[in-house]
Amino acid sequence: MDIYGLIGYPLGHSFSAGYFNEKFEAEGIDAQYVNFEIPSIKEFREVVENNENLKGLNVTIPYKEQVIPYLDDLDKSTAKRIGAVNVIKIIRGGKKTKFIGFNSDIVGFTQSIEPYITDHHQQALILGTGGASKAICCGLQDLGIKSLFVSRSKKNANTITYQDLTPEVMESHHVIVNCTPLGMYPKINECPDIPYELLTPNHLLYDLLYNPDETLFMKKGKKQGAMVKNGLEMLLLQAFEAWNIWQK
Ligand SMILES: NC(=O)c1ccc[n+]([C@@H]2O[C@H](COP(=O)([O-])OP(=O)(O)OC[C@H]3O[C@@H](n4cnc5c(N)ncnc54)[C@H](OP(=O)(O)O)[C@@H]3O)[C@@H](O)[C@H]2O)c1
Repeated sequence: MDIYGLIGYPLGHSFSAGYFNEKFEAEGIDAQYVNFEIPSIKEFREVVENNENLKGLNVTIPYKEQVIPYLDDLDKSTAKRIGAVNVIKIIRGGKKTKFIGFNSDIVGFTQSIEPYITDHHQQALILGTGGASKAICCGLQDLGIKSLFVSRSKKNANTITYQDLTPEVMESHHVIVNCTPLGMYPKINECPDIPYELLTPNHLLYDLLYNPDETLFMKKGKKQGAMVKNGLEMLLLQAFEAWNIWQK
């Protein structure tokens, strides 16, 4: 039986195990999806050596960047460009097992936001500067949208702080993507600190979060007439893409 799995720490509730095991059962695929909760990335080798039927892995927090030195190659258009890996394809056979890193978050995000993009959407604000924000920036770039990061602290020339969100900045950036954990269950009364009163029906607010379905960030955008979307479709599409990568 083929094995697929997820490495991360801590894992707690994971969407992937449920999604893939249901898929395997529904489609009669002789495979199992297993969570590998490893307290250090040094245990990566142990996981792959102890599971000789392992064909592919998903990677989550905190190892999306730390896993890179353990891989033989990175997919140029996704993982290498973004600098983060969330899918590993394991190629066995030959003298040495090969590990290739990919990033399916970029595909999930790009495919899910593309139908909502209009001529108003030339520039974007990306809230948060963590791992996911880098994939979002590359995805927006692929759609011809220029991004500016918004952080709690000034980091570089392409990053502003929440205090810098002037009416001019809000008027010139009509796509706003929440890449922070603010508003995620159970802290549903939290939201990023942006001037919501400056939002208009020309704005598109995309939240990477999907629990709750409608976050406070989305509610406040909707109140101003903005278009809003949560991260559920991205989550499903990135899992779909991971499966495509493993089957190629
Ligand atoms: N829908 C999907 O398929 C999908 C895929 C990937 C990730 N996600 C979700 O997206 C979110 C971000 O993921 P990530 O991996 O980038 O997380 P992360 O590495 O933890 O980064 C989140 C960023 O948010 C900002 N932040 C954190 N705490 C904050 C606070 N209290 N107030 C304001 N800003 C705060 C920080 O940026 P600054 O320090 O620069 O402010 C931080 O770098 C997570 O909640 C994750 O579950 C969803």
